[in-house]
Amino acid sequence: MTTTEKLNQTIRDIPDFPKPGIIFKDITPVLADPKLVSELVDWFVDKAKEDKIDVIVGVESRGFLFGMLIADRMGIPFVPVRKEGKLPHKTVKYAYELEYGNATMEIHADALKPGQRVMIHDDLLATGGTAEAAAVLVEKLGAKACNFTFLIELSFLEGRKKLNSYNESVYSIVSF
Ligand code: PRP
Ligand code: MG
Repeated sequence: MTTTEKLNQTIRDIPDFPKPGIIFKDITPVLADPKLVSELVDWFVDKAKEDKIDVIVGVESRGFLFGMLIADRMGIPFVPVRKEGKLPHKTVKYAYELEYGNATMEIHADALKPGQRVMIHDDLLATGGTAEAAAVLVEKLGAKACNFTFLIELSFLEGRKKLNSYNESVYSIVSF
């Protein structure tokens, strides 16, 4: 079985969560399968090597789960992008629109060096607003958003199109 097939079989659909009509893609069964976790990390590490990535940026909160593992496997730094008010040191902020309302993401101002090649990682690509916010923050610090990786892509929401304005390298293991 391919990694994609295994992931597809392991993700659990939760109907009507968090609201009626939404089918939530639950990755907790994936986290409970250490062999599959290791295989997924390998998949992301290949993408990091192909694009000569120096730093993994993971998006709070589910982007931390695999982001840190990818960085650890490669022996490169991990940098968190967090929701507003969580990072203690001097930050750079970016406010963006959500489907309902808006959100602000932050990164530590000294977290990246100019010219560093960054992978932006999260569990899920939906509208792309969150990953785009991370890319804006990376570029505000003078680093380059070289690729985007996700376990899951909800392709009907066309987030990929939004991210392609930064980079063609948008990779997801499964898409729905
Ligand atoms: C979810 C998901 C992505 C984001 C994708 O995070 O984990 O980060 O939404 O949506 P988008 O592509 O439309 O921006 P959520 O905000 O639910 O927070 P969490 O990761 O902390 O659970
Ligand atoms: Mg998230």
